[in-house]
Amino acid sequence: MRTRPLKVALLGCGVVGSEVARIMTTHADDLTARIGAPVELAGVAVRRPSRVREGIDPALITTDATALLKRGDIDIAIEVIGGIEPARTLITTAFEHGISVVSANKALLAQDGAALHAAAEQHGLDLYYEAAVAGAIPLVRPMRESLAGDKINRVMGIVNGTTNFILDKMDSTGAGYQEALDEATALGYAEADPTADVEGYDAAAKAAILAGIAFHTRVRLDDVYREGMTEVSASDFASAKRMGCTIKLLAILERAADGESVTARVHPAMIPLTHPLASVREAYNAVFVEAEAAGRLMFYGPGAGGSPTASAVLGDLVAVCRNKLAEATGPGESAYTQLPVSTMGDVVTRYHISLDVADKPGVLAQVATTFAEHGVSIDTVRQQGKDGEASLVVVTHRAPDAALSGTVEALRKLDTVRGVASIMRVEGE
Ligand code: HSE
Repeated sequence: MRTRPLKVALLGCGVVGSEVARIMTTHADDLTARIGAPVELAGVAVRRPSRVREGIDPALITTDATALLKRGDIDIAIEVIGGIEPARTLITTAFEHGISVVSANKALLAQDGAALHAAAEQHGLDLYYEAAVAGAIPLVRPMRESLAGDKINRVMGIVNGTTNFILDKMDSTGAGYQEALDEATALGYAEADPTADVEGYDAAAKAAILAGIAFHTRVRLDDVYREGMTEVSASDFASAKRMGCTIKLLAILERAADGESVTARVHPAMIPLTHPLASVREAYNAVFVEAEAAGRLMFYGPGAGGSPTASAVLGDLVAVCRNKLAEATGPGESAYTQLPVSTMGDVVTRYHISLDVADKPGVLAQVATTFAEHGVSIDTVRQQGKDGEASLVVVTHRAPDAALSGTVEALRKLDTVRGVASIMRVEGE
């Protein structure tokens, strides 16, 4: 056993960072035994040095993260600051000074993952980021390492806990979106500004990272189609229930049937109650991976929070420390397939469309003709009429998203169609 400790710089000491520091201290002996060398918290870079940080030696605290990385004795930096800057510059500085990095930063990895991987590789260092996607759930390393010999064709996941909590409340209580959001805010699940979660930006960043890993190609944040869940209504849930479904905000990454391209998207969708993802309640995350040889795998657990996220960070820390002792590095970016990312129009799925129409002869035929003219085949139609008006619910067979968009555009132009109340994709069948 080596006695000289591996020295760690902790960049950021908020909810996750303080848990990382606590576990490093309380589990020091176990970490030493598992790594084969002691691991020492050698410095903690923070923005507000006056804040009391229980269990952290005040002598370790600094506001100068760059100086901490440049001082010459740091082996590994843990970046738990989040956001693009100063995290990006600090990670780059770490690599320039021979320091491997563990990061929990999904936004940065989704935006600049390729450049950061290249910098790590150039300097012969590690970049690990298990905590960036789905908190405590082991997902990045199982996909990068355990499934490295298989071929992943599809990944479908609930990767945002806040929105899952809101949708679960709407489903179980019949509440509307705003009421469920208010409850999520009161319980501390939703932030004061919930935009990143409810508009799907957080899930889209995670989708970009997972798609790159799953398909060994580069998927940029801009390549991910994104729709938030703020428009999902109590009546959408009522429709979903009638179909034996619930509604989830899903990240869906798919290899095209011909294997020549991939798609990455985030949007609310109906899924059957029999699908494993339908039973993911409250703020939990779960990711369903379909691989050619392995078949269907499901990864489930807490996707956020200080302690669960710190668990993922610590797992990476142990792996990077082991690599360091072996004078090796773990897997870097794998983007050799260079598959193009198709647009949403090429995605093929099923749709549930609610229309408000005039209740008079020929309307149903007119609507059906419009679907047929755009090559979209209808599976079921349900009509409920009242006082000369009717609500029409059409569920389609699988069709390209572009064909469905064309259908809806044409439906909106029909005099007999008063409005398109909702369009929801149907997944997981
Ligand atoms: N805000 C995220 C969520 C956690 O609700 O899942 C961090 O990615």
